[in-house]
Amino acid sequence: MSASVPIAGNRFVIIGGASLVGSATAGELLDHGAAEVVLFDNFAFGSNAAIAHLQDHPRLKLVRGDVMRIAELLRVTEGAAGVLQLAAYMTLSMDRDPWGGLDVNIRGVQNVLEACRVNKVRKVVFASSNATYGYGPGVAGELVESTPFHSMGAPPAAILYGASKIIGEQLCRDAFRKWGQDYVVLRYSTVYGERQHYRAANALYIIETMDKVRRGEPPQVFGDGSETKHFVYVGDLARANRMAFESAATDVAVNTSGPEPITTLELVRLVTELAGGGPAPEFVGNDGKVRLTSGGAFRIAHEEAARTIGWTPEVTMREGLRRLIAWRDGNEAAAG
Ligand SMILES: NC(=O)c1ccc[n+]([C@@H]2O[C@H](COP(=O)([O-])OP(=O)(O)OC[C@H]3O[C@@H](n4cnc5c(N)ncnc54)[C@H](O)[C@@H]3O)[C@@H](O)[C@H]2O)c1
Repeated sequence: MSASVPIAGNRFVIIGGASLVGSATAGELLDHGAAEVVLFDNFAFGSNAAIAHLQDHPRLKLVRGDVMRIAELLRVTEGAAGVLQLAAYMTLSMDRDPWGGLDVNIRGVQNVLEACRVNKVRKVVFASSNATYGYGPGVAGELVESTPFHSMGAPPAAILYGASKIIGEQLCRDAFRKWGQDYVVLRYSTVYGERQHYRAANALYIIETMDKVRRGEPPQVFGDGSETKHFVYVGDLARANRMAFESAATDVAVNTSGPEPITTLELVRLVTELAGGGPAPEFVGNDGKVRLTSGGAFRIAHEEAARTIGWTPEVTMREGLRRLIAWRDGNEAAAG
C-alpha cells in the first residue's frame, strides 16, 4: 500500500499545534481541503494568539491535551489519516527544565506513535531539527542527512535537545520496523515567519534585532558576525509538512532548510534595512544566554527533500523577513 495520504477529505491532527509551525501548517492543510484539522496542545508554550486567525474556521478544532497522557492521545487520533508531531521543548526550554523536555521529546513521541498504532493512523510526520547535527567546532561545510552529531563544546541543553530529536527519529524508525508505521522525519532548520516566538535560540537574532531597531537602539552582533545561520520560512515548512503526507515516501529523514544560509552580520543588516533603518550594529561578546555556534561556514543541504517529497524552499530571507516584519507591525500584542 502506498504511504501517500492525500489532504483533501482527510482528518489530520497536529500535536503541539498551537504555535509557529502548527498554525501555519493547519492553514496549509485546510487550504488544501482537509476534512478536519485538530490542534492538540497543552499550551505549555503555545497560545491563543498564535491560532487566533484560525479559530473561527469551520473545519478547525482545538483540543487541550498533553502528550504525556496517552488516553488523551488515543481519543484525539481516532479517525485521523495523518498526525504531525510537533510538541517539544527546544534548547532554551530544555535549559530551564531538562527532565520536562526529555519527557516530552522522548516519551511524548513514543506515546504519539502508540496512539497512532492503536488508531491505525496511516502516516506520521515528525518534526526533527538540524540540531541532530549538533553544534560546536565539528559543524561546518555541507550538512547532509548522513552527517554525524557533533557535541564537543556545545551547551548541555543544545546537546540534550539534539540527542532527544535523534531518539525521536529512531522511535519512528522502530515503529516502522515493528508495526509498519509509515512516517517521514523532517529536519527543520531554524524557523522564522508570522507568529514568531522567542523560544528558538537562533531566531532570537531576528526578533531581538527587530526589537532593538524599533526602539532606536543599535542591534547586537555576537562575535565578529561571520557565523553562519540557515533559516527556513514557516510557510515553506508548512508546505513541506503537507508534501510529506502526500508523497509516497516513508521511513526517511530529510533536511528542510531555506534557499541559502546567511551570516549573522548580513542578517542583522537585512533586518535593520527592512525594519526601516537604524543605527549600525554593535559587536558584543557572550551575553550569558545560551547561544548556538558552529565551527565555520555551513549549509544545510535540502536536495534530498526534493528527491523524496518533491519539496524545495521558495521564500528568500528578504521576502520572509519582510512578511515577518509586516505581521509584527500589525500584531504587536500577539508576539509574546
Ligand atoms: N522553531 C524552530 O526554529 C524549530 C527548528 C527546528 C525544529 N523545530 C521543531 O519544530 C516543532 C515546532 O516548532 P515551534 O517553533 O512551532 O515550537 P513551539 O515550541 O512553539 O511549539 C511546540 C508546541 O508544543 C506544545 N507542547 C509542549 N509540550 C506539550 C505537551 N506536553 N503536550 C502537548 N503539547 C505540548 C507547546 O505548547 C507548543 O505549542 C518542535 O518540535 C521543534 O522542536 C523548531
